[in-house]
Amino acid sequence: MVIAVPLILRMCFVLTHHKGKWIMGKTALVTGAARGIGLATTKTFLQQGWRVAMVDWDGAELAAATDGLQGVVGIERDVSNPTDATAILQDTIDAFGQVDALVNNAGVADFGPIEQTDFERWRRVMSVNLDGVFLMAQAAIPALKETKGCIVNIASISGLRASTLRVAYGTSKAAVIHLTEQQAAELGEYGIRANAVAPGPVRTKLAMAVHTQDIIDAYHDAIPLNRYGSEQEIANVICFLCSDDASYVTGQLISVDGGFESTGIGLPSLRKP
Ligand SMILES: NC(=O)c1ccc[n+]([C@@H]2O[C@H](COP(=O)([O-])OP(=O)(O)OC[C@H]3O[C@@H](n4cnc5c(N)ncnc54)[C@H](O)[C@@H]3O)[C@@H](O)[C@H]2O)c1
Repeated sequence: MVIAVPLILRMCFVLTHHKGKWIMGKTALVTGAARGIGLATTKTFLQQGWRVAMVDWDGAELAAATDGLQGVVGIERDVSNPTDATAILQDTIDAFGQVDALVNNAGVADFGPIEQTDFERWRRVMSVNLDGVFLMAQAAIPALKETKGCIVNIASISGLRASTLRVAYGTSKAAVIHLTEQQAAELGEYGIRANAVAPGPVRTKLAMAVHTQDIIDAYHDAIPLNRYGSEQEIANVICFLCSDDASYVTGQLISVDGGFESTGIGLPSLRKP
């Protein structure tokens, strides 16, 4: 289902006002945009004068998220379905005529021990977190060639550091990090950049479904900044990577994790008096 944008509104967003000057409006396609990091990213793009195609498979949350936002189109589809991926690109082009940035943010989390992660659970995580990123990027290539646009894939600290219970989630995110490098290597000659962001813990619905109080306390202990991040702190880095300020940045992974990835053993002990 597409929540349509009237033609007159589309015309208004071709030219936008940002940092004191009129600029040609750009279009971002953000997956998993109905809430959490995807919604914060959408709002940050809008503040910077972009138009946003908001993709989510949760129609009710998507309708609530798009309500009242100017310069967006809501697209209710599943990024892990090849037919939907093609349709998402077509819906975006129909609404806005171009794609300048693809943010592959849609993801699911499922924490379980290896022995209890049956093939169905494994495939559910892989199909959204990895297949979805592959399919959406592949479908977007023709449009991104036109604009010399960019891709930002949302990975995770769980793709960088192994931990218990994350066999499917962590492996899917590690694969996304490598997939990003593949995309950068192959698509650079078309002027398309590809980068990844690895968020640390953020109190979203996804994280709170799998983070017990024990896990929350352990994260606080292990993170030099001693806290969870916010959706906005992740969105800021995503939008930076999509901006002209990052025009020579490709094939990179930026951890936005309060220092978690950079630290080794001993931090909690040193903190204790
Ligand atoms: N929150 C964290 O602590 C954290 C940490 C590291 C990485 N991440 C990653 O950040 C991304 C966003 O997570 P979030 O915390 O904002 O989660 P969230 O659950 O709040 O939002 C994810 C959105 O993606 C949508 N979605 C899921 N599968 C989809 C599909 N197949 N097609 C279309 N939409 C789909 C959901 O409906 C939801 O609206 C995810 O890729 C997640 O793995 C989150």
